[in-house]
Amino acid sequence: ERKSEANRKLGGKKVVITAGGTVERIDPVRYISNDSSGKMGFALARAAKEMGAEVTLIAARTDEAPPGDIRVVRVQSADDMYQAVSAEWDDCDILIKAAAVADYRPRERAETKIKKAGDTMTLELVKTVDILESFGQRKTSQLLVGFAAETGNAEMYARDKLVRKNLDLIVANDVGQPGAGFGVDTNIVSIYDRSGLVEELPLLSKDEVARRILSAAGDRLKEEGR
Ligand code: CTP
Ligand code: CA
Repeated sequence: ERKSEANRKLGGKKVVITAGGTVERIDPVRYISNDSSGKMGFALARAAKEMGAEVTLIAARTDEAPPGDIRVVRVQSADDMYQAVSAEWDDCDILIKAAAVADYRPRERAETKIKKAGDTMTLELVKTVDILESFGQRKTSQLLVGFAAETGNAEMYARDKLVRKNLDLIVANDVGQPGAGFGVDTNIVSIYDRSGLVEELPLLSKDEVARRILSAAGDRLKEEGR
């Protein structure tokens, strides 16, 4: 009974989820990345599918096993992820950016392995495209959900990102707390919209956090008649 109710919630909706940590290549054997495990994004993809959505999971580096019944697009860099989101954008109803996107990438990518030379080495980094911000600027009917992984002042930083990136919802997690954030199967998050707190969730499994986030997104679509 509960399952069929959950099933209807995102029925007929196209949900695009990004997950994992982007990989910014230095040379063929080295890269810059981050500690994102991809667990939250994969949990979101599974939950969205359970709730009846048509799901596309855009996945950067992760150890998670690909869910068999979900369409997965594999990417490496922030640039690749931007292209992959673009390809899904037009008929997308909900975009959730759970990926940890590198903020900077090496300016040059060496075609061959860089050899050791000298006592110091300088790598010049340039800013990557802010994927959420650029889609936030051009959104029409899409509902945009961002994540903010912070180590303190989570509410303030998250709400600033919500406004700056023109999002509908933002999920703030304080990765400094035990049981929250990278690499674990649980999370502690709060969801905000323009007018403030939507929901403050206790320590929950990432699967349950995913259901709550999608449920809030589904409610929002419905409220706005989208
Ligand atoms: N994000 C993105 N493209 C980027 C950087 C971030 O789409 N180049 C998205 C993330 O996927 C996340 C949200 O923006 O959903 C917030 O990411 P975060 O790293 O917290 O924000 P930044 O704007 O990069 O700010 P900072 O790292 O300085 O806190
Ligand atoms: Ca960042």
